[in-house]
Amino acid sequence: MADSGDSSVLFRSRVLFMTGKGGTGKTTLAAAVAKLAAAQGRRTLLCELDSQRPSLTAIFSRVPSYLPVVVGENLSICNVEWMPALDDWLADLVGAGRIVRMIMKNRMISIFLEATPGARDLMLLHRVAKLAERYDLVVVDMPASGNATGMLSVVSTSRRLFDTGPIRRCAEDIESMLARPDTNLVLVALPEEMVVNETRETRARIQAEVPRLRQPLILLNRATPVTLSAEERLLLDQLASSAELGVDGRELVEAGRWEERLECATAEALERLRALAPVVVLPVLARGEGAARVAGQLTAALARQSRVKVDLVGDAGRSASGGSR
Ligand SMILES: Nc1ncnc2c1ncn2[C@@H]1O[C@H](COP(=O)(O)OP(=O)(O)OP(=O)(O)O)[C@@H](O)[C@H]1O
Ligand SMILES: [Mg+2]
Repeated sequence: MADSGDSSVLFRSRVLFMTGKGGTGKTTLAAAVAKLAAAQGRRTLLCELDSQRPSLTAIFSRVPSYLPVVVGENLSICNVEWMPALDDWLADLVGAGRIVRMIMKNRMISIFLEATPGARDLMLLHRVAKLAERYDLVVVDMPASGNATGMLSVVSTSRRLFDTGPIRRCAEDIESMLARPDTNLVLVALPEEMVVNETRETRARIQAEVPRLRQPLILLNRATPVTLSAEERLLLDQLASSAELGVDGRELVEAGRWEERLECATAEALERLRALAPVVVLPVLARGEGAARVAGQLTAALARQSRVKVDLVGDAGRSASGGSR
């Protein structure tokens, strides 16, 4: 699409938190960004957070485990589960052997869970911060906006509640990660009024509750590019009011007007979203494509927009040369 925003922030980041309304394409776009970064030669990790049914499985045909699994050159995936994350945190904290840790863990878990609001979220984010030390880029496929905002705001709550001690230090580690200039937030949106409204609310809430996180980048997914010229629109209007059209002609005009409505919805969403943050536009793809293929095609679309020259293999490579729609 011609009028896209600057996507370079995606490829300058070390940690990318991706969220948005449910079903907007967070997981697919997180995979696309990770695939492209890996193709550029960056050691990339794509994680889900404590997912009971990891969505990355459908894209990579591998079940992501707590420990990163290699799924391609420079690319690994994982599912950051909170219990092993707690175990790792304890290991760092007490540095003791396994048995001591197990006893401590059993005693601590109940105290920790009861005493610390958002204890699970703290452990998950702390693990992400640790992983970020080992990769060039960590892409985090977060839960939908409401939960993601709650998760991110747990950090400042914990800092307020604990003046000293290990939980305070844990929150501080996470906060330093959030405040880094190469940590960025991506909000995934769709050209639909309700989704745009939710994106605005999420942006405002995260800004208020996690002020140290930088201005987000918005990915407007499933957008319809403007293809109809002003003359074609006028012609459609004239034809729609013409009494001389047969059944076939009417169907064609209806199809044209449907396309026009989708183009308008994209233009309206773009205008509203651009008032919030820079926007990168990604096209709607044909229905019925598999998850892996959609992710591949969106990787190619991102590569074109970023003017990144990379060898994308598989679906992405094929659609990079053949167009994505
Ligand atoms: N640009 C696109 N064109 C067509 N289909 C798409 C596009 N982006 C994503 N999809 C498809 O939309 C569906 C939902 O995508 P995805 O699972 O990435 O959304 P999500 O935001 O992660 O959902 P959830 O909130 O359930 O985690 C998938 O089937 C995916 O293949
Ligand atoms: Mg998802």
